[in-house]
Amino acid sequence: MEGLIKQAAKDIAERKYAIALTGAGMSTESSIPDFRGPKGIWTTNKKAEAEAYEIYGLFLKEPKAYWEKMLSSQGIYQRFYEEMRKAKPNTGHYALAELERLGILKYIITQNIDGLHEKAGSRKVLEYHGGIYKLRCTSCGSRFGTEEVSLDELPPRCQCGGILKHDVVHFKEPIPSDVREESEEEVLRSDLMLICGTSAVVYPFAELPIMARFGSGRLASSLYATGHKTNVKILEVNAEPTSLTQEGVSDYLIQGKTGEVLPRIVEEVKRIYSPFAT
Ligand code: APR
Repeated sequence: MEGLIKQAAKDIAERKYAIALTGAGMSTESSIPDFRGPKGIWTTNKKAEAEAYEIYGLFLKEPKAYWEKMLSSQGIYQRFYEEMRKAKPNTGHYALAELERLGILKYIITQNIDGLHEKAGSRKVLEYHGGIYKLRCTSCGSRFGTEEVSLDELPPRCQCGGILKHDVVHFKEPIPSDVREESEEEVLRSDLMLICGTSAVVYPFAELPIMARFGSGRLASSLYATGHKTNVKILEVNAEPTSLTQEGVSDYLIQGKTGEVLPRIVEEVKRIYSPFAT
């Protein structure tokens, strides 16, 4: 592991535009369960997973019933979001915030809705699946802090008349176009991608590492066809190998806990970066 930590720190320190892609594995050390790990929410509760695939359809058909379900104290959502609001960032979140402070990490694209990257001090964070602290208008796309919107009348409405929902992106719900465009821009601008705590099985997020590996559009097809790859460095920090590891999309996997591995990488980066590095 030590050798890989040093390699990762060297790769990160040498590159010009490093970004991080993160998933639920970042927050398990903040006592927020992941989804597909051994004790994941979907691993242990198939009924909840099946329901999660239907909730967006309910919003489209009966937005009032959607809101009643989301706010019901019996439902999984209210409890899950409550847990997240109480959670604290862990050493993995702080490590990525430090990398941003050093001017090395340019962006985090996270699948997590818990807001822990921002709580740890990261500023450039894109919530690919939205977040629990905002509501979004499904007509004009405006976003509001949850505390700005009254829920006395359901469903809540935007000034434009559109219906508001949680900013959280449910299964089958399209990723908002502003988020999709910004994330793809950042991926194509990056020369190093640090992928932390994600099984990378949920699309379209899972396309982002593929885009980094093979480019996009015509470039992708020709690189794919000739089996060539871009020169983007793709590193994984994850408790277990993923399809990105197995399919050679990532250059290497540092197998371990993000809360332990990321701080060690940052320490090594600071050692290399320090003006008196030997
Ligand atoms: N350190 C490193 N890796 C970890 C840790 C940890 N402390 N804890 C868990 N992991 C790993 C798990 O082994 C798993 O490979 O993180 C990965 C988490 O994968 P998932 O549970 O599938 O979470 P994620 O990839 O974020 O899911 C993507 O699925 O349900 C949807 O919208 C939801 O955003 C979520 C999306």
